[in-house]
Amino acid sequence: MLAGLVLFPLLALASPAIVKRDDASINQAIGYINGNITKVNNTLNTFTKPKDSITALIIKAESDDLTKSVNNAAAVANASAPLNDDQSFNVATAILNLQPNIYSLLDNLKAHKPQFDTAIFGFSASPLVKSTLQEAQTAADSFGDAVTPKLTATYQSAAPVIVQQIDDKFNDAIAYFSS
Ligand SMILES: *[C@@H]1O[C@H](CO)[C@@H](O)[C@H](O)[C@H]1NC(C)=O
Ligand SMILES: *[C@@H]1O[C@H](CO)[C@@H](O)[C@H](O)[C@H]1NC(C)=O
Ligand SMILES: *[C@@H]1O[C@H](CO)[C@@H](O)[C@H](O)[C@H]1NC(C)=O
Repeated sequence: MLAGLVLFPLLALASPAIVKRDDASINQAIGYINGNITKVNNTLNTFTKPKDSITALIIKAESDDLTKSVNNAAAVANASAPLNDDQSFNVATAILNLQPNIYSLLDNLKAHKPQFDTAIFGFSASPLVKSTLQEAQTAADSFGDAVTPKLTATYQSAAPVIVQQIDDKFNDAIAYFSS
């Protein structure tokens, strides 16, 4: 009984439902985004044939997981206490390292537009890619909105530039899949 009472708070602390309010939890969430980016990118690299509905559906499912991981990062950042300078540096560095991976994935997506254009039993999956990209863009914006106010002043003032660059890159890819 006593052991149970003592153990319970420890288990509660270890539970993933308890969000840690620091840079480590935000960086872990950014790590999940990177993992999901790699997964989608690897599947994209196997998407080489026309009329490949199966791979297109896998890419769609993995892209939805990626968007979920971005929304998860937004929730974790939102739940975090304000970061100090060192913590802000850590998170800003992780975001700067994430940025080229986002660009790389969006470029690779564009490179596979010919495959998407015949992916749904010979018809174009581009409208589906477009709406998937719009959902991912909305998630990226919420992550930017959630993390920015947690950073210290210097990083906070630099953040909108990065957020805008990523947003522009999404707009470019969305335009590409709009035609
Ligand atoms: C994708 O993100 C989720 C969190 O939303 C995480 O649990 C999962 O491990 C990530 N997948 C990869 C392949 O990294
Ligand atoms: C952010 O956190 C506040 C309280 O900490 C909560 O009310 C709000 O719903 C959260 N927003 C998101 C997008 O998670
Ligand atoms: C995606 O795959 C391409 C082609 O192999 C590679 O050049 C690029 O670095 C990869 N990007 C990511 C984020 O894994």
